Order: sequence, then structure tokens, then C-alpha cells
Amino acid sequence: MFFKTIKFKLTFWYVVILGIILTTFSLFLYFTLSDSLHRGLDNKIKTTAEVIASSMRSPLGGGPTIADVDRIMTEHFGIRPLGRFVQVLDESGRVGGKSTNLRNVKIPISVQTLREAARGRVTFETIKGMGKYPLRVVTLPIIENGRMVGIVQVGSSVEGVVEALHQLFLILLIAVPAALLVTSVGGLFLANKALRPVDEITQTARRIGFGDLSQRIRMKRVNDEIGRLAATFDEMIAKLEESFQQVKRFTADASHELKTPLTILRGEVEVGLKKKRDLGEYRRILTSNLEEIDRMSLIVEDLLTLSRADMGELKMEREKVDLSRLARGVWEDLQLLAQGKGVLLKFMDDGFTKVDGAPLRLRQLILNLVENGIKYTPSGGEVELMVKGDRGSGVVRLEVSDTGVGIAQEDLERVFDRFFRVDKARSRETGGTGLGLSICKWIAQAHQGQIEVQSELGKGSTFTVTIPLKN
Ligand SMILES: Nc1ncnc2c1ncn2[C@@H]1O[C@H](COP(=O)(O)OP(=O)(O)OP(=O)(O)O)[C@@H](O)[C@H]1O
Ligand SMILES: [Mg+2]
Repeated sequence: MFFKTIKFKLTFWYVVILGIILTTFSLFLYFTLSDSLHRGLDNKIKTTAEVIASSMRSPLGGGPTIADVDRIMTEHFGIRPLGRFVQVLDESGRVGGKSTNLRNVKIPISVQTLREAARGRVTFETIKGMGKYPLRVVTLPIIENGRMVGIVQVGSSVEGVVEALHQLFLILLIAVPAALLVTSVGGLFLANKALRPVDEITQTARRIGFGDLSQRIRMKRVNDEIGRLAATFDEMIAKLEESFQQVKRFTADASHELKTPLTILRGEVEVGLKKKRDLGEYRRILTSNLEEIDRMSLIVEDLLTLSRADMGELKMEREKVDLSRLARGVWEDLQLLAQGKGVLLKFMDDGFTKVDGAPLRLRQLILNLVENGIKYTPSGGEVELMVKGDRGSGVVRLEVSDTGVGIAQEDLERVFDRFFRVDKARSRETGGTGLGLSICKWIAQAHQGQIEVQSELGKGSTFTVTIPLKN
């Protein structure tokens, strides 16, 4: 499990990459230092050899002696440099003199090296087996008048170089793994710290999965990636909870709405069946039943329309529709209803009013609005239906204003909600279920339009629909 976590993977790759970098760096450091130390040693013994060779070139009788070598070294270097072994040979390769520190040991010289010296070339060699550490030896010919007259050999133990490199190796061997260890612990700590909020989110999501939609993460940090994730998550859950509540309310309201006519229906039928009645009475009961059935059919139809619209199943066949003509039709059809209620229904149109839409739906929209106007305006009032095309803003405005009861400010927001009715008791008398305006809102939005309401309690209301013009 642990090996599959992000924090492990992050830390692992972090440490691997750092490991590669540190190892490369260490190797580079080691070899550069090794090279420079070896070169330094070669330069030192070569310089010593050159100094001795130039002192030897003076008119010498016999070959240089042991005393000579020591004396030259003391003269030129102050004191005999410790750790330098000097050996002077004649042209045939016999030892002529050497520094006292060599005692009776002889620095070996190969035929190959002798031959190189005879050609006037300098040779560097590493000779093993002369002590604990190998000896680095330079073999330098003494040239006089273009002829090799002798050879100087200066040797020095590589102990210093080897020891320094060994030390470095040990330091790196401890330091690199130690650095990697610290890094992995630190990396794990940091990754853990950075990812802990993700665990929090997971936990909340799990609780929500068990059905508790009221859960929120409510993370304090908002400005980093995870904070934003948590905030987005919270927003999403809030919306989810909201629509979940809506569905719940909708179902409850719908069942309630259907239950009332059903109860009435049942009551009437029961009463009818209690005893034998005459034909006229049966007819009255059945007529009343039919009313309730009609009512339920209307509700079910509205519900179906809305739920299909929610699921996006209601595809609207669009065509060029003249809103003003549609509105005039509604106005004519509702004259009777208005007159019956003693309400004056007026109509006005102006300008180019064609839109791209579904005529039946748009008619339903106008009808619902005008019906509402008549329904919520007392006798003696007025309802005015107005359609106005405005090329400037590219929309057609449809206004239904009445001089009716009006809507309270706090209810304005909710009149478009499903099943919302300001006065439930009175609405039932007039036959409303509170679905009309939600259907209007859906129709307006499906036409890329908007619906708004302005109202003052006791004075009247104005519903305004705007739909884009079609040229
Ligand atoms: N013109 C209006 N004047 C005052 N109140 C209104 C007006 N139009 C709507 N309302 C209020 O808004 C509520 C919702 O209206 P909506 O048309 O959605 O439902 P309804 O008319 O009650 O029922 P139906 O589903 O039959 O249309 C109404 O119950 C009423 O209280
Ligand atoms: Mg209505």
C-alpha cells in the first residue's frame, strides 16, 4: 500500500535524482583532484631533477658522488627535502651517486627508460614494491653538447596523494548516503504535509458517499492548488445538495398536489356508493369526478413537460415565428375569460417581432402569463399584453402587466419555483398548481431568452420576456 502512495513515489524519485546528481558530482570531484595531485607530484620531482641536472653539468672530473648529491640538494633547497630520493647515474646506467636517504637501496631503471634517456627524453614511472606505497620516479638525462652524459632520477612516494584521495573517498562514502537519508526523511515529511489535505478531502467524500450531503471540507487555505480543489469540491457538494433538496421538494409537492384531487375523488365515489341514488345525483357526482380528473391530467401533463425539459428530452422544432401574431391569438382566445371576470384585456404591438422558436411553446408561455394576469386581477382591473420589437438591442420584448393583487417583495424571487404559490388556499379555488411560471421560465430560457417580474403589492405586476430577434 505504502509503495503505491504519491508521497512515496514523490520522495523516491526525488531521492533517486538527487542520488544521481551527488554521485556524478563526487566522481567528478574525485577524478579531478586525483589528476591534479598526480600532476603536482610529477612537477615537483621534475623540478628537483632539473635543478640537480643543471648543477651536474659543470665540468665534472669523475661522476658525482653521494656527498655531492646531498650537498647540491642542501645548497638548492636549503634543507634536503624530505621524501625525495635522488640517484645519479653515468651514461652507461651505473649508479654514480645517491642521496643518503636511499641508503643501500637502488632505484631500478629499465632498459626502455635508459634508451629514452639516451634519446634525451624524460620518463615518468610508478615503481611498486619499494615500500608500503609506490614510488613515483622521474628519469631525466643530463645533456652536454648534445650528448647524454648522465642521468638524474628523482623519486617521491605517492603516499600523500593516495592518502588525500583515500580521505576524500571516505568522506564522500559517508556524506552522500547520509545526505540521501536526510533527504528521504525530509522529503517524506514534506510530501506528507502537502498531501494531508487530500486525505481530508477523501474522508469527506467518503462521508458524503454514505449519504450525508451536508458535509463540507471547509479548508482554511484557499490560495494553493489543494485549497482551490477543496473549495471547488465544497461548491460542487453545495450545488448537489441544493438540487437534491429541490428534487425532494418537487416529489413531495407533486405527490401532495395529486393527493388532494384523489382524496376528493375517493370521497365523492364513496358517498355515491353508500346508497342507491337517482340518475341526476349520479350525473352530478360523475361531473364533479371529471373535474378532478381533468385537474390531475393537467398537473401530470405539466409535470411531464418539466421533467422532460430537465432531462433535455424536449427538443423544440424551431421556425420563424411572429410573436405579435401569437400574442394577438392569445388575446382573442382569452377575451371571454377576461370578460367573465370583469377584467379589461388590452393588446398592443409595435415593430418587427419575429423570433426563432417553437410556436406551440411560445403560445403556452404567453397564455400562462395572461391567464395569471386575469386570475390575479380583481374585477374592474386591467391586463395589458404588449409585444415590441427592438432592432437596436436585437430582442423582442413581451410584457404582460396587470393592475391586480401584486406580489410581495420577498416572494418575487420564488414565483418561478415549481409549485410555488403565494396563497395556497386561494390558488386552489382558482385551479392553480404553481407550475405555470416554472414552465414559462423554461420556455424563455430554451429560446435564449429571459423572464423577469416587477411587482408592487396591491398595485399590480409586470412580467417581461425578452427573446432574441430573428432577421
Ligand atoms: N400576475 C400575477 N399577479 C399576482 N401574483 C401572481 C401573478 N402571476 C403569478 N402570481 C403568483 O405566483 C404564483 C405562481 O404562479 P404560477 O403561474 O406558477 O402558478 P399558478 O398560477 O398558481 O398555477 P398554474 O400552474 O395553474 O399556473 C401564483 O400562485 C401567484 O401567487
Ligand atoms: Mg399560472
